[in-house]
Amino acid sequence: MIVNPQVPLHRLILSLSEALDFVHPNVADHQQRVAYIATNLARRLGFRGQDLLDVFHAAALHDIGVIGAENRIKLVHLGDLEKMHWHAEAGFNLLKTNPLFARPAEIIRYHHAVWANGTRAKGTGQDVPLACHIIALADAVERWIERDKPVLRQAKPLVEKAVALSGEQFHPECVAAFRQVAGTEAFWLDATSPRIYSVLLGQVDWPVLTIDEVTLNPIAEVFARIVDAASPWTAVHSAGVAATAVALATRLNFSPRELHLMRAAGYLHDLGKLTVPTRILDKPDRLTEDEFVPIRAHTYYTFRILDTIGGMPQISEWAAFHHERLDGKGYPFHHTADDLTLGSRIMAVADVFTALTEDRPYRAAMSSQGSLDVLRSLAEKGGVDAEVVRTLANDHDGIDTARRGAQATYAEGQHQLGRLMGRPTAQCAVA
Ligand SMILES: [Fe+2]
Ligand SMILES: [Fe+2]
Ligand SMILES: [Fe+2]
Repeated sequence: MIVNPQVPLHRLILSLSEALDFVHPNVADHQQRVAYIATNLARRLGFRGQDLLDVFHAAALHDIGVIGAENRIKLVHLGDLEKMHWHAEAGFNLLKTNPLFARPAEIIRYHHAVWANGTRAKGTGQDVPLACHIIALADAVERWIERDKPVLRQAKPLVEKAVALSGEQFHPECVAAFRQVAGTEAFWLDATSPRIYSVLLGQVDWPVLTIDEVTLNPIAEVFARIVDAASPWTAVHSAGVAATAVALATRLNFSPRELHLMRAAGYLHDLGKLTVPTRILDKPDRLTEDEFVPIRAHTYYTFRILDTIGGMPQISEWAAFHHERLDGKGYPFHHTADDLTLGSRIMAVADVFTALTEDRPYRAAMSSQGSLDVLRSLAEKGGVDAEVVRTLANDHDGIDTARRGAQATYAEGQHQLGRLMGRPTAQCAVA
């Protein structure tokens, strides 16, 4: 039975924030820790209701424009912010058209605002909102914390450091608020807690704003773009999987609501790839057994991230079981035919069909006919669902056209994102 998804927005944002910071232990939880510090500062400065929520959402996603572990580590540890300014603009661009994120997007755009005695407080001719200065300070404080030393030994010098930069780098009102909130041990222990997700959930009485499957789709698409941008080889992959899965599900009589869920699941199916280092995704050769380890884990993370959000069980399953096989030889759960619903079987076929028609560093793209032949033989061996493969074969041209069309439209946004991020987009071409 399909349950209408009731996704708590703050949990969705926290889980996506956590997923982005999975990339390396050195930057783990950076955005959530900044969200904790920023929300405390904002409350102290009188932010309430939607204004407070905007700061929370912006802080939790403030580095959304940074892709890949290497870039995140540079950003957090080298503090080379001038060179990394593009990431704030990329984050703004990713979120600005989504009605739920339009206000946080504006805050993210200037989250490295420098106060400079008020003289450089302007972005595009207007005053940079106070919320940006709050996140700028929270971000700096989080990056100053040395993770291998007891935080309570660092509290006093960190406050002194912020005070010394008040008026110059940081907005004086934010520094004054920081002096007040940083006065307790609990503040520092919370900010660096390994259970930061739960700390944030309990920090404020977040309004239970739930979103439905229609609202969810543009958010899922944003995350698809981030996952896909991690490697030029997969620049339009998730859009192709989503379009193929929806085309198959339409022909298998899924309801309009189920089709929305299927599209979101397609966009989110490789979310766990955020945990895979880009050097592995980009390797121009077959992977070694060791390098394949994080690849085999990626759908586990897709499942855990989506399942933790709650409220959308179909999407979690359909998205995360795309490397499972009916004969139990897939990964990582080794589900068998009994466990795999039609939605999961559709996603598995959509993923193989799309992946084989794309170039990879170690092989050229196959024709869509060749891809269909591979799927037929996989179905004969009991790996994927024969009925779903027949559905694909029955309208191969129609489904392939839908896939190509969706990928071509999506590619425009990916090229723009690639330009902002300084990532190559040569392989953005649609197969
Ligand atoms: Fe940043
Ligand atoms: Fe940051
Ligand atoms: Fe995958």
